[in-house]
Amino acid sequence: MKLGWLEATVLTAATVANAKDLAYSPPYYPSPWATGEGEWAEAYRRAVDFVSNLTLAEKVNLTTGAGWEQEHCVGETGGIPRLGMWGMCMQDSPLGIRDSDYNSGFPAGVNVAATWDKRLAYQRGVAMGEEHRDKGVDVQLGPVAGPLGKYPDSGRVWEGFSPDPVLTGVMMAETIKGIQDAGVIACAKHFIGNEQEHFRQAGEAQGYGYNITESVSSNIDDKTMHELYLWPFVDSVRAGVGSVMCSYNQINNSYGCSNSYTLNKLLKGELGFQGFVMSDWGAHHSGVGDALAGMDMSMPGDVVLGSPYSFWGTNLTVSVLNSTIPEWRLDDMAVRIMAAYYKVGRDRVRTPPNFSSWTRDEYGFEHYIVSENYVKLNQRVNVQRDHANVIRKIGSDSTVLLKNNGGLPLTHQERLVAVLGEDAGSNAYGANGCSDRGCDNGTLAMGWGSGTANFPYLITPEQAIQNEVLNYGNGQTNVFAVTDNGALDQMASVASTASVALVFVNADSGEGYINVDGNMGDRKNMTLWKNGEEVIKTATANCNNTIVIMHTPGSVLVGDWYDNENITAIVWAGLPGQESGRSLVDVLYGRINPGGKTPFTWGKERKDYGAAILTVANNGNGAPQDDFTEGNLIDYRRFDKDDVEPIFEFGFGLSYTKFEFSDLKVKELSADKYSATTGKTKHAPVLGKAGKASDNLFPSGINRVRQYLYPWLNSTNLKDSAADPHYGMDAKDYIPDGATDGTPQELLPASGPSGGNAGLFEDLIQVTATITNTGSVAGDEVPQLYVSLGGEDDPVRVLRAFDRVTIGAGQEIQWTTTLTRRDLSNWDVASQNWVISSAQKKVYVGNSSRKLPLSADLPSVQ
Ligand code: NOJ
Repeated sequence: MKLGWLEATVLTAATVANAKDLAYSPPYYPSPWATGEGEWAEAYRRAVDFVSNLTLAEKVNLTTGAGWEQEHCVGETGGIPRLGMWGMCMQDSPLGIRDSDYNSGFPAGVNVAATWDKRLAYQRGVAMGEEHRDKGVDVQLGPVAGPLGKYPDSGRVWEGFSPDPVLTGVMMAETIKGIQDAGVIACAKHFIGNEQEHFRQAGEAQGYGYNITESVSSNIDDKTMHELYLWPFVDSVRAGVGSVMCSYNQINNSYGCSNSYTLNKLLKGELGFQGFVMSDWGAHHSGVGDALAGMDMSMPGDVVLGSPYSFWGTNLTVSVLNSTIPEWRLDDMAVRIMAAYYKVGRDRVRTPPNFSSWTRDEYGFEHYIVSENYVKLNQRVNVQRDHANVIRKIGSDSTVLLKNNGGLPLTHQERLVAVLGEDAGSNAYGANGCSDRGCDNGTLAMGWGSGTANFPYLITPEQAIQNEVLNYGNGQTNVFAVTDNGALDQMASVASTASVALVFVNADSGEGYINVDGNMGDRKNMTLWKNGEEVIKTATANCNNTIVIMHTPGSVLVGDWYDNENITAIVWAGLPGQESGRSLVDVLYGRINPGGKTPFTWGKERKDYGAAILTVANNGNGAPQDDFTEGNLIDYRRFDKDDVEPIFEFGFGLSYTKFEFSDLKVKELSADKYSATTGKTKHAPVLGKAGKASDNLFPSGINRVRQYLYPWLNSTNLKDSAADPHYGMDAKDYIPDGATDGTPQELLPASGPSGGNAGLFEDLIQVTATITNTGSVAGDEVPQLYVSLGGEDDPVRVLRAFDRVTIGAGQEIQWTTTLTRRDLSNWDVASQNWVISSAQKKVYVGNSSRKLPLSADLPSVQ
């Protein structure tokens, strides 16, 4: 595994001319084999036992999907009928079960981040895991750490958490633990650099009229990769995540699922990932190449969705039989898949899928795409339990109070409550009326795309406010709603007599395969949708107690109106899921004191965030080149470095009470010296014998489903055996150096069994602060700790620790946290390791990235 390091060269668009100048991803082979270290030991042992009993074709069946729409789930592998094991079910999404029924619609990841509450992240994970488990799902396709949020207007940022890697990393870990404690394998996605929807897949882009033949390349240098984009995946691996999804985009001009550098070196070598890598749907680009580059499962199995061919399936069987792929590599794929399966206890809690992703009808074709086998498909099992409670709680606790000039809380004494704006009301098509939520009708509670779930119901703000006024009011209050954003005259008339005008506005975004109003996944601008600015203007012109409530996937431009004196409060409610209205009224009427903090920056102008989303094919018809030249300076780090004033800074949020910070204490802890990992791996274990072609022929008597992707051979003549283009054949000329070598390999200096070198996670410094609630009501505060690493190229400050604490009126608490070696280190490209620089480091504590009343120099530690 020893290869000279070549830092990927990042070039500006202007220099993109010929292929040799393009950013480059160095090869890294062989693909590290699982070792079962740490918490994986028992699961690994059982997986090895299991896989040792399998035939070649059975192993292949675990690695390859049966094909698009061939089974119940969005992706499903083959099974091992001989051992009573049916295929494994992969199902979206990161916020609940997609394409199902009688399931919950949870708040989006961005709302979880806005709670800054690890416990709620965990509880949501458990609840989502329970629902997937009870529907027969083996792998829940979430959570999301890519996109991370390089672009504030990127389509899928809301599926993930925050552009801050520490906040995202913590929320990834808690979500993963929750899902897996419920007995379902989590999937950290999309690995890696999947920062925009435009050009993520060449085919999709062609559909939008772009003449490109390859998908976008995210050109990321090694330092930025480690200090920013890889960071939350480290936390995911440390949390024991069972699977990782490789992404559609290229990284330094090598596809996410073909990239030996990101998969073999970073994920499996350095981070010691023991689970399996599955492709995003259609992100699998080559048979032998991707196997050697570290991919372990092809989803949904076919070359393009709906084609009868596969890079793997029979072709993988062929590649092992003709020794193009060493058998240990296939064994490793199967072991990784089964280790994840045992690790979360699938064998104890498994039930076959009892729903179909392709129809809501009770009866239908099991093999939907080819209309074969008519059966009862949807058993309509209700899996919601009492999850509405955690959904409502996250909704309230993620609500961010951005401005309050006495507008909130409401008192029930208001004589006339006006509810204005389409975003307050129902979708006239029904809450699930647009497939994959691909429209912006009525109140917005999820973005669009595969990262969605069907709602069991959706409580709108209009419903909840009316209910509140009528049930808890003084019996004297009137409430009127105008939800047609074109009806400005009617809004003006209601607002002019209202005691309070609650104005609802939104902006929406989602995944690239759906275009909503010219937004091809990514938002085309950062303004409000549907005349939102005019609705606000109408209200403020007619009512001096206007409260603006926003449902958005991220930041929108509020500069034109936020400081209007008739706006007495501004609330961001994010994408809160099914309990939207109820979560909101709890905060509006003060039953819950808001404690959410914005997990992203609200800038004055789009340009303050840095580069725009790449929407121009800048490399002829080759892969568009997206150069991540800003390095790790995204979101608040960019604003801080440029000294640009945001409107609402990262980490900011008001409360109905006030908090004060005092008494900062810094203490050095005793820790071992950091040492680079040295030594070698063991030899790659070989668990079986491939046997001969004749051992892997189609079994007689099998009822072959059309287009279904099987692992068996049609003939003992390997050239003809797959009955399709020979993806598994004659690849030997292209085998990269070292890719088939199963002998012991050098360990990487920063590597370790669970997220990297164990020394990185040792606590070096303890920090304590006192927080006092100086107001008259109890409330939640989020103490935030930032570190200045002190180097010239470093961000001014980076978030390193936080908590959410409840403090009674007049009370104080002591908050204690620690800084690990990783928290204080920079990635050193030369030594390929983390190093604590000699620059003076400083710690800051407060309640936003710019309200940091406490600070101290840190002692120099190593
Ligand atoms: C493509 C999306 O990028 C991914 O997030 C999703 O899990 C798969 N489609 C399956 O629907």
